[in-house]
Amino acid sequence: MDLKNPAIMKRLEGIERIIAVISGKGGVGKTLIASAMALTIAKIGFPSGLLDMDFTNSSCHLVLGVDVSKEKPIEDIGILPVKVHGVEFMSVAFYSRGEALPLRGVEIDNIFRELLIITRWSKLKALILDTPSGFGDVILNITTYLPRAEFIAVTTPDTLSLETLKRLAGTYMSGKISGVIVNMSYKSIRSSIEKMGFKVLAEIPRYNDLEGCIGNVDRFMKTGFAEKIEETVQKVLD
Ligand SMILES: Nc1ncnc2c1ncn2[C@@H]1O[C@H](COP(=O)(O)OP(=O)(O)OP(=O)(O)O)[C@@H](O)[C@H]1O
Ligand SMILES: [Mg+2]
Repeated sequence: MDLKNPAIMKRLEGIERIIAVISGKGGVGKTLIASAMALTIAKIGFPSGLLDMDFTNSSCHLVLGVDVSKEKPIEDIGILPVKVHGVEFMSVAFYSRGEALPLRGVEIDNIFRELLIITRWSKLKALILDTPSGFGDVILNITTYLPRAEFIAVTTPDTLSLETLKRLAGTYMSGKISGVIVNMSYKSIRSSIEKMGFKVLAEIPRYNDLEGCIGNVDRFMKTGFAEKIEETVQKVLD
């Protein structure tokens, strides 16, 4: 028997929803969306958490403007996540100090379980998981160790991105996808996605002012992008 599974369950028992933001293709906006979702849930008055599961390329701390060389989670019968703008935030970047972290599959597996076992979350309305692109170790671990996790898939309207979503439609993962966010949208692909059997949660355009807001949460939360995420979060939490 793997004793780590009950330990993981115990750590997460106070969390109402676990929502993983996923995509087949990279660079479609998962990190920005996951960070904005966690910030928005806190902003509208619910306790929220954000766990960066893109271990080899953690970047949520950059969106949140957390200096991982200065801040560190406190140890207290486990590890307490760092509180950022009301969000309980945890990332391996606190330990890698933001440096590159090349990892093989087995190491990803170990970090995945270790992080879940040591982190002491409060009672949360939702824990948002940022994930690496593709359907590799982290996603498979989520389905194994966090069977109640829901998935929000992100795609752009581009053919190659959309094709990766279509592939998912035929797999066991499809039933776990509560909705799709079309990001950096320049044409409506709502009907194509609905034909795949998925619900469209939002179509978010490209915003040219976003780049200047990375690391500045106050500015980031005033953008049109954050407004779209707030509408999406309302739908997800309803
Ligand atoms: N709606 C948008 N408008 C403008 N820029 C955006 C938008 N969404 C994301 N971006 C930008 O696109 C880039 C990729 O976003 P992000 O890092 O969130 O994608 P990702 O899916 O997490 O990538 P990866 O697969 O590498 O983890 C970032 O520079 C981000 O600021
Ligand atoms: Mg990312």
